[in-house]
Amino acid sequence: MQTNSFTKLIVANWKSNKTAQEADHWMDEFKHVRVPDSGRVVITPSFPLLPTVQLATQTMKNVAVGTQTISTFSAGSYTGAVSARNLLGFDVTHAIVGHSEQRRYFHTTNQDVARQVDQCLINDIVPIVCIDENELARQADAIPSDQLRSCVVAYEPVDAIGSGNNAPVDEVREMHDRIRVVFGNVPVLYGGSVNPSNAAEYALVADGFIVGTASLDVHEFIEVVKKTL
Ligand code: PGA
Repeated sequence: MQTNSFTKLIVANWKSNKTAQEADHWMDEFKHVRVPDSGRVVITPSFPLLPTVQLATQTMKNVAVGTQTISTFSAGSYTGAVSARNLLGFDVTHAIVGHSEQRRYFHTTNQDVARQVDQCLINDIVPIVCIDENELARQADAIPSDQLRSCVVAYEPVDAIGSGNNAPVDEVREMHDRIRVVFGNVPVLYGGSVNPSNAAEYALVADGFIVGTASLDVHEFIEVVKKTL
């Protein structure tokens, strides 16, 4: 049974980057890192790279495999979709759902996210729900309250993603408080230009991070992990 409880969760979101060979090199470096019990690292590659990541993480402690999305449907005739059933055997523990890039480029709606949460939970995967800050209540309302309790929520201001314009820490604290009012007492991650120089500061107000750009270089990501845990 997967659980959404931990001290700090750090997610490496590679997005659509990396070849199999690059993923292999990254994992070769990362597998020497000792992640303390105070934290959990989840690496979320694109689907074709799952076997590479799974193989390397098998011998690591507190490091897990995740995905960047999941189908809104269960297994069936949905060409192009990756269902939770397709993920069986890859040790996937977490799935990011509702990332702003999914909402923007693939038109994912709050209702889609609710269906993805359902698919995750049926299949023992912890959903990391990226919320649209302007639709907090609407997103929470779309997810049944007994399911909300098992989610991790991520606050990633769109302007802060991939821009180097990380959000002020006070703003992040305030938004995390608002999220807990609406979603209940769930872990809340911050994402948006997290890097080795700002990770320690955010670690004071967030239950962890989604790291995009700074996760592409393994040494930079290792530094984020060290500064956080
Ligand atoms: P970033 O991406 O770290 O490059 O800002 C974070 C994300 O989009 O999850």
